[in-house]
Amino acid sequence: MLTRRNFAARISAAAAAARLLPEMAYAQRAAVKVSDLPKDMVWLNSNENPLGPPEVSLAAMREVLPTSGRYHYQEFRQIYSAIAKSEELSPEQIILGCGSSEVLHTSVDILTSPTRPLISVTPAYEGPIELARALGRPVVLVKLRDDYTADVHKLAEEADKAHGGVIYLCNPNNPTSAMTSAKDIDWLVTNLPPNTTLLMDEAYIHFGESPDLKTALPYVRKGKDVVVTRTYSKIYGMAGLRVGFAAARPDIIEKLQPLAINVVPIVSARAVVAALGDQQNILRERRTILAKTRRELTAWLKERNVKFIEPHANFIMIDTGRNAREFINTMPRMGVAPGRPFPPLDNMLRVTIGTDPEMAKFREVFWKVYKG
Ligand SMILES: Cc1ncc(COP(=O)(O)O)c(C=O)c1O
Repeated sequence: MLTRRNFAARISAAAAAARLLPEMAYAQRAAVKVSDLPKDMVWLNSNENPLGPPEVSLAAMREVLPTSGRYHYQEFRQIYSAIAKSEELSPEQIILGCGSSEVLHTSVDILTSPTRPLISVTPAYEGPIELARALGRPVVLVKLRDDYTADVHKLAEEADKAHGGVIYLCNPNNPTSAMTSAKDIDWLVTNLPPNTTLLMDEAYIHFGESPDLKTALPYVRKGKDVVVTRTYSKIYGMAGLRVGFAAARPDIIEKLQPLAINVVPIVSARAVVAALGDQQNILRERRTILAKTRRELTAWLKERNVKFIEPHANFIMIDTGRNAREFINTMPRMGVAPGRPFPPLDNMLRVTIGTDPEMAKFREVFWKVYKG
């Protein structure tokens, strides 16, 4: 039987395991025994897209499945070209990976060193930070400003102090969903200290509607010391298909290449290429759906005077006004799984924006726990 105590123990065991693993969200879910959980559990813990892959991608996958006994190596030139072209890049400016996790790992491994630290904000997405630590690379973490934005001046200062390093910024940031403005990014690129690379993780960039939120890909096109990582896991709804890429100057990509594991699965690659055939419509439609649900949630929170960080991604950080562990431990028993703890933001609950019915359930369960 699932008691409150043993469920809480499992969740905290999962959180402990997550601290050791780069793919933390995966660890959290994997460590919870699914048989113990409500069958209609609403998963709002991993920032996935409930819409899943677009229809054209499903059709492309069905078509290629019978021939997936082959590696399809000969197709990858074309696949690289299609992905590069979709972002106005050349194939030499990108490298694919098993999700953006792989290319983030490769970038950290190759571009940091025992004397070249990984410099980031706290809290940020833990994957690259945990990897740098596991590799024995120095890690410098800078506090967020009071408005939860990244202090780009501080980041540059730290890189300068270290005589160079890799500045890792996630825009919009995970877990805060706050953005770094185009003006700040521009300042940072212009003022990058010598021997410093900016590693921009744009996993959630498509979900933002603010005109101040801009991709850093133009800096890659201009040949700056900037690596941009992108994923098909989020707005494209293909988290389980595991495809992402890094974009950078060809000489940087060449450095990353020897660590690439292999080509990505052909089924996944075909799904991505099919989606890119209708890229603008898919992005626009999905952003519109997400933004509407997100707006409704923020309006509901405002009506109840519940504070939150203004969201720019497909998740939101809600200030519960007390330690959020109470919500993290209790809500799954009531059928809704929110995100894990994100110290030092102990009172904050990270919630992925799901479908409208999922968010209705979230509101009901959250409010019950909130009122106590
Ligand atoms: C900010 C950020 N970057 C990268 C990833 C890795 O995602 P994937 O490997 O599925 O591309 C995640 C996953 O949640 C994330 O939140």
